[in-house]
Amino acid sequence: MLLFLDTANVDEIRAAYSLGVISGVTTNPSLIAKEGRDFAEVVREIASIVDGPISAEAISLDAEGMLKEAVELAAIHTNIVVKLPMTPEGLKATKACSQRGIKTNVTLIFSANQALLAARAGATYVSPFVGRLDDIGHDGIGLIYEIVEIFDNYDLDTQIISASIRHPLHALQSAKAGAHIATIPYKVLLQMTKHPLTDKGIDAFLADWATLQK
Ligand code: E4P
Repeated sequence: MLLFLDTANVDEIRAAYSLGVISGVTTNPSLIAKEGRDFAEVVREIASIVDGPISAEAISLDAEGMLKEAVELAAIHTNIVVKLPMTPEGLKATKACSQRGIKTNVTLIFSANQALLAARAGATYVSPFVGRLDDIGHDGIGLIYEIVEIFDNYDLDTQIISASIRHPLHALQSAKAGAHIATIPYKVLLQMTKHPLTDKGIDAFLADWATLQK
């Protein structure tokens, strides 16, 4: 499973990318708004840091508007993936993008049927939102298992991005379920590096080493 970073904060992206474990970035309008900066400028800066797919979301609600935005976003950098919402208009735009060779990430997926439709429309990626399903008492990781099974049954090329990841267990469960990618917040990435026995082990090794210096 590849790891993408789910943020529009360039400092977090720089720090995470320097660890050598991040293969791409996903953003959404809420994450961009948090930065309070020009959208295209942020996307351009992310593309200058990360050599991998960078999802940037269209905000139009009609297919024609989405396609226009998609063409503009794709022109920013070859690594741009256009995020489109899982709606009938979003599906039309996804199809149109795939016919033009523009990569897409169909977002706000909450059911396996939605994922199947997006794949059939030619989506490069689908983003099922694990955490938001858990938030309403549904089984977010169960959805990842369902989509993996369906895509495997029919050899669909669309890649599954496990999204709305809230904690390291979601990342682990996504990997076990067979998601191709998990997109994770910076905080969760740092949590994944940690184990109390690692810290305790380093302390013990250093303490033992220090006895040699006396
Ligand atoms: C994914 O592409 C989305 O941007 C993101 O994972 C949504 O996460 P949230 O539910 O924490 O907002």
